[in-house]
Amino acid sequence: EYMENPIQDFAGLSILLTAGPTRESIDPVRYITNHSSGKMGFALAEIAAKRGATVTLITGPVNLSTPDRVKRIDVQSAEEMFTAVKANLDGQDIFIGTAAVADYRVDTISQQKLKKQPGQSMLNLTLVQNPDIIRYVGHVAQNRPFVIGFAAETENIQQYALNKLVTKKLDMICANDVSQSHIGFNSDENALTVYWDNSQAHIPIAPKQAVANELMTLILRQFHAS
Ligand code: CTP
Ligand code: CA
Repeated sequence: EYMENPIQDFAGLSILLTAGPTRESIDPVRYITNHSSGKMGFALAEIAAKRGATVTLITGPVNLSTPDRVKRIDVQSAEEMFTAVKANLDGQDIFIGTAAVADYRVDTISQQKLKKQPGQSMLNLTLVQNPDIIRYVGHVAQNRPFVIGFAAETENIQQYALNKLVTKKLDMICANDVSQSHIGFNSDENALTVYWDNSQAHIPIAPKQAVANELMTLILRQFHAS
């Protein structure tokens, strides 16, 4: 247990999160996915609930147990995640997109297992772009929640993160450097640089629960300031 009796500073607030990878089917036995473990999103959901928030967590396939007092909705593909987000957006005060949403899916899922063809050394799959879930949330016209995104980058971290902050209309973006293999993805530790308006804050490397606690404090401060 990270915190036994934390201050209930999120009491009365509803938070919607996405977490984990998505899984895009190719055929009945194969799929495209990525290395996201879901740990950061689950840690944020746990901390928010412990601090009194009403928490809904929409997650792709992960190997994690559901935190106490968190409503969990399991999905597979990006399109399913998008549908679940739209169905649960009403009345949310804060949206946090930690999911590593697959950017592309195959254009048509084969109903039958694809068979290897003798002599066929190359296989081409046609991929189509998935909906950008957080961009949709950032652009909703009415009762828009306070929106926080994540950016896992391997280079030009600040530039790419700030570009996402603007184009997706986010309130805050949390960048992490996944070229450093000891943080991010499947790691139990993380370090983040958070950007908003013309400000930034660095959360140094620590266990994901400690990082989640610090980040939720930063989010709450900016939520009240906005
Ligand atoms: N995101 C989303 N839906 C998508 C893709 C991304 O909601 N289809 C969200 C992620 O959950 C994250 C933020 O957008 O909060 C940034 O994700 P990222 O993959 O870094 O951004 P992309 O716009 O997909 O850009 P890139 O080409 O760097 O992958
Ligand atoms: Ca992406």
